[in-house]
Amino acid sequence: MNQQTLFDKYQDTFGVEGQDLFFSPGRINVIGEHTDYNGGHVFPCAISLGTYAVYGARDDDRVQLFSGNMEGDVVSFTITDEQPEEADDRKWANYFKGMLVYLRQRGFKIDHGFNLYVYGNLPYGAGLSSSASIEMLMGQVLKDEFSLEIDQIDLVKLGQKTENDFVGLNSGIMDQFAVGMGKKDNAIFLDCNTLEYKYMPLELGDYEIVIMSTNKKHSLAASAYNDRVAECGEALKRLQTKLDINSLGEIDEDTFDEYSYLLNDETLLKRTRHAVFENQRTIQATKAMTAGDLEKLGRLINASHVSLHFDYEVSGTELDTLAEAAWQQPGVLGARMIGGGFAGSAIAIVKKDQAENLKEKVGEIYRQKVGYDASFYDAEIVDGPHKL
Ligand code: GLA
Repeated sequence: MNQQTLFDKYQDTFGVEGQDLFFSPGRINVIGEHTDYNGGHVFPCAISLGTYAVYGARDDDRVQLFSGNMEGDVVSFTITDEQPEEADDRKWANYFKGMLVYLRQRGFKIDHGFNLYVYGNLPYGAGLSSSASIEMLMGQVLKDEFSLEIDQIDLVKLGQKTENDFVGLNSGIMDQFAVGMGKKDNAIFLDCNTLEYKYMPLELGDYEIVIMSTNKKHSLAASAYNDRVAECGEALKRLQTKLDINSLGEIDEDTFDEYSYLLNDETLLKRTRHAVFENQRTIQATKAMTAGDLEKLGRLINASHVSLHFDYEVSGTELDTLAEAAWQQPGVLGARMIGGGFAGSAIAIVKKDQAENLKEKVGEIYRQKVGYDASFYDAEIVDGPHKL
């Protein structure tokens, strides 16, 4: 949809003209998966697939939301309503409502209603963080339209709070940070323990990142995700009986090995091994990129996938097929699943002149094995949420 179409849709929906158009990106993650809530490092970036919103002020106290993707009814509530939406066809509004509720609770003045027409070209459930894209979109709309003096990282934290407390997924901060702090052509090397971060230009030379989407809906992903968070919490508790640490991100491979007897459980051993090694791999990967050793970066990306498959057990036939098929293609340095797992997307780092071949060959293998099509996108790295 182009900009004019979005304004037209707003007018069709609400019967008045819209005022402003906003965009908020989605995200991919180069490496550092399931490390954020373990106090480790991540290395994500914001992408040009994302969510648009047309905003218009109202002179009453109602918020009216319409999703051009859901095509259901307008969801309407007052600015003082703090209850999460319970009905299945209204739950999507919680990502917006949570941001509004928490900003108001922080004392920010949002004193009149508004209409919002929302449309995303980020495939829903694609593991490209449509939820963080929407949370940070709402945050940006409110920040700009109501002139809120809020630091961007505080807005990111409210995005995570919305996800955790209003929606109910115990996610880490990676997605909201990647989206909210996105910078064109840069990835963000973020220490999730301290929130110290560094922008690093994604210097891939003759290579590019291709996003490979499974097109599978992940219905069980949320409960499995919360299970992994709980398992890592239990592992940490057992390690803390002898180690003075606050997160799994604080230990290296040797320390893990030395104290692994405290875990004494196969599942906890595997989960912890992933959390610890993936964090170290992420640090190594940024060093390899800086040194221009792209082959090493690729191997670390492959290792990340293998660890997510065997130790963290969050992959699946669809994601494995994409990564493993990509490994076989010429010009591919590395490929792995990204995000929470089970469905969603994978990425491949591939030589630019082999990208079309990769999409074709992996597409064929995927169709044969899985029975329906995967989708492919070239990743364009962009800035965080803003008014257009
Ligand atoms: C989801 C969560 C993130 C992160 C990833 C896994 O995308 O929202 O916080 O934990 O999974 O790395």
